[in-house]
Amino acid sequence: MSNSIPISDVQRTILCQTEAFEVVSILWSKQVPPLVCNLHNHGWSQCHVLIQEGTFENNLLAGVKAELRIFEVGQVISTPVGAAHQMRCLSESGRTLHVYTPKIAEHKEEDRKFNSLIDQSLKTSIQLGEAVRFDELTKLLSAIEKNSISTHSPYFMNQLFSGVHPQALVAEELIAKSKTTLATHEASPVFSRIENEIVEQLGALIGWNPGSRDGVSVPGGSAANFMAIQLAKQKTFPETKAEGLAGKVFKIFVSKEAHYSFQKAAVSMGFGTQAIVPVGTDETGKMDVTLLEKAILDAKKLGQIPLMVCATAGTTVYGSFDPIGEIHKICHYHSIWLHVDGAWGGPVLFSKTARRLIDKIETADSMTFDAHKLIGASLTCSFILTKHQGLLLEANDVSGADYLFHNSQSEESDRGKLSWQCGRRADSLSFWSIWKNLGTLGLGNLVDRLLSVRDESIAWIQRQERLDILKESSFLNLCVRVAPPSGASDKQWSIRVREELKRQNLAMVNYSSNETGAFLRLIIVHPQVTAEHIRNILKYALEVS
Ligand SMILES: Cc1ncc(COP(=O)(O)O)c(C=O)c1O
Repeated sequence: MSNSIPISDVQRTILCQTEAFEVVSILWSKQVPPLVCNLHNHGWSQCHVLIQEGTFENNLLAGVKAELRIFEVGQVISTPVGAAHQMRCLSESGRTLHVYTPKIAEHKEEDRKFNSLIDQSLKTSIQLGEAVRFDELTKLLSAIEKNSISTHSPYFMNQLFSGVHPQALVAEELIAKSKTTLATHEASPVFSRIENEIVEQLGALIGWNPGSRDGVSVPGGSAANFMAIQLAKQKTFPETKAEGLAGKVFKIFVSKEAHYSFQKAAVSMGFGTQAIVPVGTDETGKMDVTLLEKAILDAKKLGQIPLMVCATAGTTVYGSFDPIGEIHKICHYHSIWLHVDGAWGGPVLFSKTARRLIDKIETADSMTFDAHKLIGASLTCSFILTKHQGLLLEANDVSGADYLFHNSQSEESDRGKLSWQCGRRADSLSFWSIWKNLGTLGLGNLVDRLLSVRDESIAWIQRQERLDILKESSFLNLCVRVAPPSGASDKQWSIRVREELKRQNLAMVNYSSNETGAFLRLIIVHPQVTAEHIRNILKYALEVS
């Protein structure tokens, strides 16, 4: 895994090398003449250099243009495909971290692994017991990597995440090295500030007033949805924190396309799954507000308590967005907490064109935001956000933790008090690194580029006789039914196609079913995916016989 090569007096250490990326650390000294890095020479196409120590001069030579810039600790030099750059260390010594990634055409066919059968020798190696030497361990780690699914490939469209962002890789190294907890400010002064900054900036993008924005990072969108219910309960029935439900029958209204995490949360909170009321949707997959109002009135007639309505911003299967403004009117009238599950679609906040999909988001009481899906941060990196400052603390603070929390009067309070977790990883750093490097505008461009891949793909799919798009998506979910070559009707054909794509290591896409049969679901989320990848997958799909 790790080898050091002295080249022209700089010490170059490969920290991690996979078929998808390479991470190299370089130690510099002032005496060394400028090092020329020509991207074509080392076989990769994109290069991100993070300055970890020292001051550097970077001369970017792109065609006839040359750009001379000084870089300091913490800055990242991202070098475009085909450019060469000369680096010179200006300080006595320096340290840089280089993350190399291939360009899209170099994601080689043989790199793809979507059909992993763990052989007996690996099964045996996984068993714990006797100690192995460190070099043996690194060999085992390589074997584990080789047998893992290629989620870094643009042909991995199975989940709501795909691909690895170099900024996230660099951040992960720091998270592992710093190994601290975000429970207390004293143990993580900078990471706590970073988490707070993200909460503030997301709150500002939502349109919540300064001084009202609050939130905390949580391990996944499911956890955020759980905490939204907890917030709604704390706001309306604060006595339940000490007394429990005391016979109250709470109801939570979600679209029938909402994520299953609401049911799991209802189980964990002691409400039972029957507390979740699935509301019907229209032909585009959006919650039908007439049905919502009827369901609320029906619950009230039975003496039940409508606690929360959740509008999904980007449903898991179809990518539909529930109408937040209309749902808010109903919530406002009946005094019900409005939560928006933006685990998948939340990042449209960054896009000038797609933000309309979450029009009136500022009326929500809380929002789930996952950065590990569309933004590409490391798994997991999620947030529960609310416009009721102080409520997370009220809902989660308990006694018995004075051994840990000593400085609650300090300017920066201990963020662990806002959460039901004790130890908390610095997950936010991964999102922060991507946001810092791309900027707010860059994140919007990322979303918009993927949406243009969607448009181009839909136009092509519509021209194919045996492909049929379901609920023409307003988002990055392509739901496509494949008709069998024989022309015969086969409701399960898309499942067969999916399994074949996986078996041949061609692509990994998911499937779902409705009353008319199964269909493929392709998720457009890989940072380098193009319409050509989607055409390739669907061409393979049409060849299955
Ligand atoms: C709409 C929606 N909400 C919540 C979740 C749960 O998020 P996580 O996987 O981060 O727990 C998902 C996951 O796919 C989702 O699609």
